[in-house]
Amino acid sequence: MIRTDGTVLGFDVGKRRIGVAVGSAVSGGARPIAVVDVHDGVIDWKAIDKLIREWLPAGLVVGDPLTLAGDDQPIRKFAQQFARDIAARSKRELVMMEERSSSSPGSRSNDVMMGGQHLLTLEGMPRGDLETLLGRAQQFVQGMDARERLAGVAVCTLFFEASTRTRLSFQRAAQRLGADVLNFDAATSSATKGETDADTLRTIEAMGVRGFIIRHREDGAVARLSGVVRPETKLINAGDGRSQHPTQGLLDMLTIRQARGDDFSKLKIAIVGDMAHSRVARSDLCALRALGAGDIRVCAPPSLLPDAQTLQGCTVEADVDKAVAGADVVMTLRLQRERMQEGLVASLEDYHRDYGITTGRMKLARPDAVVMHPGPMNRGVEISDEVADGAQSLILRQVANGVAVRMAVLEAALAV
Ligand code: CP
Repeated sequence: MIRTDGTVLGFDVGKRRIGVAVGSAVSGGARPIAVVDVHDGVIDWKAIDKLIREWLPAGLVVGDPLTLAGDDQPIRKFAQQFARDIAARSKRELVMMEERSSSSPGSRSNDVMMGGQHLLTLEGMPRGDLETLLGRAQQFVQGMDARERLAGVAVCTLFFEASTRTRLSFQRAAQRLGADVLNFDAATSSATKGETDADTLRTIEAMGVRGFIIRHREDGAVARLSGVVRPETKLINAGDGRSQHPTQGLLDMLTIRQARGDDFSKLKIAIVGDMAHSRVARSDLCALRALGAGDIRVCAPPSLLPDAQTLQGCTVEADVDKAVAGADVVMTLRLQRERMQEGLVASLEDYHRDYGITTGRMKLARPDAVVMHPGPMNRGVEISDEVADGAQSLILRQVANGVAVRMAVLEAALAV
């Protein structure tokens, strides 16, 4: 077994081509990323070297075609020679694995979003896929140059609801990958004349756009729209109704990992605020459970708690001080002000007193605890100025990580 917990590149060697996949050594999850040509036994080493430079893998896995071709078959000798050559060229740890066992990243296919599928939700995304995306995002945080990854690919931010962070960070991410970026502004578009969202999407698709980043006020809208596009078009959910905000969930996990390491089982995480209406909370909970978070406490007024299924695996704390006590991470959520008009909270002042994250409350958490908020913030309501701008706040780090995470997601969905 390979002795690394980082990114692994896997290679399945054939006579005419070599399949390449990227994956996580921890989980074995992987997705195909490239096919490299072999002409008359000559490998396109330029392409292989480029992949190594782009992915900076911690280790390599080469499929051993032992059981497919017999012990002394030329293809096996070719694969073994390839393994020796790539180990020497890349100076990386390498193992050969029996191809038939399907444990080589080069031979695995992926089931949720990797390998050029839509990203609609974090629900059901395997831990290995999450870790692969987070590992790749971390490479982008560290400045990995990927200006050619989406060269010639057109993407559109198709937002039917307001956004600052998500829209602009997707645009920035797409630019850093070399994509052409179009922005759709619902307020000045033909949506105001009654054009349906599906017709809008297909109209822009007809212009040659292959990736859509969609925000919508309706639950399940992005999944619905995935039914009207061509197979080669990929959709990324940038927040739909109260359902999911998968890239926010991913960037939150990356931020926690950077602050606290990748063993989530030891962490005490408090989520405080309007969970009932929060797509961020739903995506965060999916990701936290998948990554094995040990202790998730949630706290909100009873009128702002979601259903029991959403809260599976969480401890519900009525008292915010108890929720925050000893926490490593305090995640606070935006109070949507219309909830006051709906009578779900008595007043903003009462809410701040009972659920606001303040300097006094943060003293109950671990001394090195960190505070997160997905933004936009209501200062003085769910979070005080002192905490939002204080040393424990990772709020702007979350924003910065959003670009890197969205690069990883765009690449996974759209790079061939
Ligand atoms: N966190 C978030 O989704 O922010 P925006 O609404 O500004 O995109």
